Amino acid sequence: MKMLVKILVYIFLFELCESFIFPRDIKNFFDAYKSPSISIETYNKLNTNEVSSFITNERYKNLPNNLYSEMVGMINKDFLYREKNSFSKLPFTILIASKDNKIIGVITIESSEIDINGKKENQPVISNLIVSSEMRRKGIAKILTIRAEKIAKKLEYTYVYLFVDIENKPALKLYKSRGYKSFGDTKKTTKIVCVNSRFGNSDCINVMMRKKI
Ligand SMILES: CC(C)(COP(=O)(O)OP(=O)(O)OC[C@H]1O[C@@H](n2cnc3c(N)ncnc32)[C@H](O)[C@@H]1OP(=O)(O)O)[C@@H](O)C(=O)NCCC(=O)NCCS
Repeated sequence: MKMLVKILVYIFLFELCESFIFPRDIKNFFDAYKSPSISIETYNKLNTNEVSSFITNERYKNLPNNLYSEMVGMINKDFLYREKNSFSKLPFTILIASKDNKIIGVITIESSEIDINGKKENQPVISNLIVSSEMRRKGIAKILTIRAEKIAKKLEYTYVYLFVDIENKPALKLYKSRGYKSFGDTKKTTKIVCVNSRFGNSDCINVMMRKKI
């Protein structure tokens, strides 16, 4: 019903005033109606355990207790390191999507030194994007990326960058649909995987993507 009212208001405004412009990505506008009780906010608590636990649970299902604590600890440490090492105008920022006071999605943005055409530059980089498996395909990652981009745009950056595993088809599709384009060479790297109840490194290839904001 709410959705119908909104559509009628839009048609009315469009008819009423020729200069009225539809939002560029009108689908985002209606996506909010898919999940009206979801809020997106900056995570301001000093202790990042809640976020690290969410990421661990989503990335590595059913870890034994000792590995679970190890991974939560590693993510906390990584967050602390990034916080301490962000000197620029865009400090390490965690955005969370929540529903009924429960985290259902995360994204981080910070200014990082990255290699662009052989030159080191401090640019906004988004990472740690993850949405809980039960809440996927509801536009949450899309909204999280939009909010992260807004932070960078407010600080007058021109581009937002990210790195994605070339085999991560859902993420590639998401970023392409959000206007990100491959940029620069692919890079061989490693990711942490859990095999036979142990953490280890697995080779992967990352592609750098960027979007003009
Ligand atoms: C990738 C991920 C963050 C997407 O989150 P999401 O909230 O489901 O994404 P959205 O609902 O905002 O999707 C927006 C668009 O992205 C694309 N997309 C997202 N997931 C997709 C999938 N599994 N298959 C194909 N396209 C997909 C679609 O174009 C989608 O639009 P549509 O639903 O209207 O077709 C989620 O699958 C996830 O958490 N994956 C595990 C972690 C991960 O890989 N993170 C990225 C690290 S770089």
